[in-house]
Amino acid sequence: STNWPGLIEAYRPYLPVSDTTPVVTLLEGNTPLIPAPALSQAIGRGVQVYVKYDGLNPTGSFKDRGMTMAITKAKEAGAKAVICASTGNTSAAAAAYARRAGMRAFVVIPDGYVALGKLAQALLYGAEVIAIEGNFDDALTIVRKMSENYPVTLVNSVNPYRLQGQKTAAFEVVDVLGDAPDWLCIPVGNAGNITAYWMGFTEYHQQGKCARLPKMMGFQAAGAAPFIAGKPIPNPETIATAIRIGNPANWEKAIAVQQHSQGEFHPVTDQEILEAYRLLASQEGIFCEPASAASVAGLLKQKEHLPNQATVVCVLTGNGLKDPSNAIEYSSNSIKQKIKADLKTVASEMGF
Ligand code: F0G
Repeated sequence: STNWPGLIEAYRPYLPVSDTTPVVTLLEGNTPLIPAPALSQAIGRGVQVYVKYDGLNPTGSFKDRGMTMAITKAKEAGAKAVICASTGNTSAAAAAYARRAGMRAFVVIPDGYVALGKLAQALLYGAEVIAIEGNFDDALTIVRKMSENYPVTLVNSVNPYRLQGQKTAAFEVVDVLGDAPDWLCIPVGNAGNITAYWMGFTEYHQQGKCARLPKMMGFQAAGAAPFIAGKPIPNPETIATAIRIGNPANWEKAIAVQQHSQGEFHPVTDQEILEAYRLLASQEGIFCEPASAASVAGLLKQKEHLPNQATVVCVLTGNGLKDPSNAIEYSSNSIKQKIKADLKTVASEMGF
């Protein structure tokens, strides 16, 4: 709509808020569901692919959906400070919403494994950033204990309000398509978002807003794929730092989603992730971060199993601008540099 009020107002009857709840919003949500004709054509058989471009949220990722709820409820409870562990996007969102609500934001990140744009955001929004010599799983262990022992509210996806906010992405998909898709392809890290999407689809289904439920297809980076291994991965590694997670906090919930939706978890290699990343940008005009491209890499890898005429939604969780270093390093393109500032030279460089 032309006057989008933010997702809490838009979906108020579905969310745990009252008339007196102090809503903290940056007008997140209402992100576009964009048709992906190049992907649809590559798959063929009448399959229709869409991407849910959640990189267009106010801080550039789907985390804003969860954070508007988590910070709103923290403010309602009188919290003065929040804390999270993060591979980058949660810290950016926590910082923005907490500062807007007048709270301190503490973020604990794995030193050297957070994309540049996310660090820039956390700092400028005014978060207090601690980079530990450890990975995301170590950081999460620390912040969980911090929130048990000090007056700081945990805003990782183990905070139930986070999932409540994030489930609205599923509502938006159904509101546009008129039903749930056949497949929902999604990158999986800590497994909060796959859990939230499924909550959204099942609630809408119970309300009669969709006739069917999707098969939930969760994709993990091959070097950080605990759901494929069936056990935690002690030293996860992937180019997609956002999902460099070995011990997902929402383990049982994600397994339940897979079972109830007859869904599947599959690994995608870094090379497959980067191919999908380049394809989305250069053929669809859509710039996402590497972790987000795991959903498309996974779709391309599993496409033979799609029914004819199926509708597929791939969730693009974060904006490509978050990670300029990887974009430059892994683009198949390069700049023609140090060209003489002269029309003929420039034209001849262009092949005219
Ligand atoms: N995509 C992006 C861009 C992410 O930042 C994350 C998680 C995921 C996918 C996976 O979502 O954890 O709900 O399964 N990022 C967290 C963070 C861990 O700290 O920003 P999930």
